[in-house]
Amino acid sequence: MDARALKIEAARTALSYVESGMRLGIGSGSTAEEFVKLLAEKVAGGMDVIGVPTSERTAALCMELGVPLTSLDEMPQLDLTIDGADEVDPALGLIKGGGGALLREKIVASASAAMVVIADQSKYVETLGRYPLPIEVNRFGLETTRLAILRVAAKLGLPGDLTLRMTRGEAFVTDGGHLILDASFGRIPDTRALSEALHAIPGVVEHGMFLGLATTAILAGADGIQTLNATRQIGV
Ligand code: A5P
Repeated sequence: MDARALKIEAARTALSYVESGMRLGIGSGSTAEEFVKLLAEKVAGGMDVIGVPTSERTAALCMELGVPLTSLDEMPQLDLTIDGADEVDPALGLIKGGGGALLREKIVASASAAMVVIADQSKYVETLGRYPLPIEVNRFGLETTRLAILRVAAKLGLPGDLTLRMTRGEAFVTDGGHLILDASFGRIPDTRALSEALHAIPGVVEHGMFLGLATTAILAGADGIQTLNATRQIGV
């Protein structure tokens, strides 16, 4: 099975968690987009759901395919978010933000009673950090923020560098108008400590570690689907 087929299998399995009447958070990235396509078929067949998209790109796809949308201002509490991930660990800690949508993804996931993560098996790791950690930062004081992140990382024994994310020769700008620094720290043994330290830096808007948010992970591999569950630790 190729990577796309695995993403479709994970997305299809996630559909069984969706019930008519649900208020959904709708994720971003290539796996989440496969989910949107399958959800749109259900909606066309009469399923009554409403979704909050986690990016402008997902919003555009939902509108194109006829998935009804709302906003968190209209609907501040959601039943379920379905989203992809760049890494999933055994406790269902995640790294997200490879597509740059981490801030809205985290706000939406936190507003949801449950979060189902869909991914192919290659995203599963024992310890987060193989994938560079996206850190969304304010444009103002970029260099000050960059140095502060390096300082807290060094204190936590995390070596590595920060790279300003670029696209077509220019700094990548998130839907919220911020920049992203990708941190190549390698394995992050104490994700909670790093999370707290990053949140204490004024120029950091958010980071891509999702801790205690995911309740289920659906991992598709050549041998089939593996489902992992965890208890929600924060959120609504
Ligand atoms: C988007 O910002 C990300 O958090 C995605 O959910 C993540 O990068 C997974 O994307 P893929 O499904 O494309 O691998």
